[in-house]
Amino acid sequence: MTLTHVLITGATGGVGQALALEYAAQDVLLTLTGRSRERLNAIAALCRDKGAEVSTHSLDIRDAYAVREWVLGVDRERPVDLALANAGVSSAIQPDGSGEPFEDVERLFSVNTLGVAATVCPLAERMRARGHGQLAIIGSISGLRGFPDTPAYSASKAAVRTYGKALRGWLADSGVRVSVVTMGFVDSPMSARYDGGKPLRCSAEKAARRIRRGLERNKGEILFPRILAVGVWSLNLLIEPVANRVLRTFFKCSVKPDGDSPLGRK
Ligand SMILES: NC(=O)c1ccc[n+]([C@@H]2O[C@H](COP(=O)([O-])OP(=O)(O)OC[C@H]3O[C@@H](n4cnc5c(N)ncnc54)[C@H](OP(=O)(O)O)[C@@H]3O)[C@@H](O)[C@H]2O)c1
Repeated sequence: MTLTHVLITGATGGVGQALALEYAAQDVLLTLTGRSRERLNAIAALCRDKGAEVSTHSLDIRDAYAVREWVLGVDRERPVDLALANAGVSSAIQPDGSGEPFEDVERLFSVNTLGVAATVCPLAERMRARGHGQLAIIGSISGLRGFPDTPAYSASKAAVRTYGKALRGWLADSGVRVSVVTMGFVDSPMSARYDGGKPLRCSAEKAARRIRRGLERNKGEILFPRILAVGVWSLNLLIEPVANRVLRTFFKCSVKPDGDSPLGRK
């Protein structure tokens, strides 16, 4: 039996676990990564129960060159058919109105942007050489227009959205498919740390099903919920003070710092 090889970063999180379980099946080899070995083992067991072959690797995606080497090694051993660059972190301005610590800004770009590039870039070249493969970049609706309460997160997601769209253009005639996932609020540990309105939020399982369906249709951008995405994108057509006022009213938020943030370590 030929196994379909699916690689998922951030597999220890809410969306990553749901994606792993969505793809877990008898004819699938899952390569899963995240940092928590304990979570990786637990998720691998659930995926094996569904018949999948599973390989796990704990790594810090901020170590971009180590990630690149690891991805290349994985692909040399068993060519990757689909890679989902999903690992991500979030932060926001602080409740008193002061900004994000630079350490968090750097971390968001390292994980959400460079981490994606370190995963996708080496695979793009190898998939292009063999004329087959699919890359999925997990973005966010906040990449459609900078949200004033989450500047670094918005910018890190805008960067990968543009990167993914450009890669799709470059690879269009090569047999390699590239999709960007521009999604709204999804239940997960990340979302549990987000204090603010979460209009039209959905479960991680539902998000994983929508992502899979979009990838099977080779959509360039998998947008959901569509109405929210269109609403956010349309703000680009308004004059800036009005757009910012709308965002600060409807997407006012704070984010409970995670353990890697200098604020979370206090
Ligand atoms: N939840 C939402 O509402 C929402 C909405 C739009 C887009 N997204 C995007 O969806 C993706 C998944 O988010 P989620 O909601 O599932 O968040 P989550 O539950 O917090 O999961 C985040 C994942 O990223 C991994 N990660 C974080 N820092 C890492 C690092 N330095 N090295 C390696 N892995 C690291 C985590 O692994 P470890 O903890 O094991 O390190 C975990 O597997 C992210 O890209 C996020 O931006 C989420």
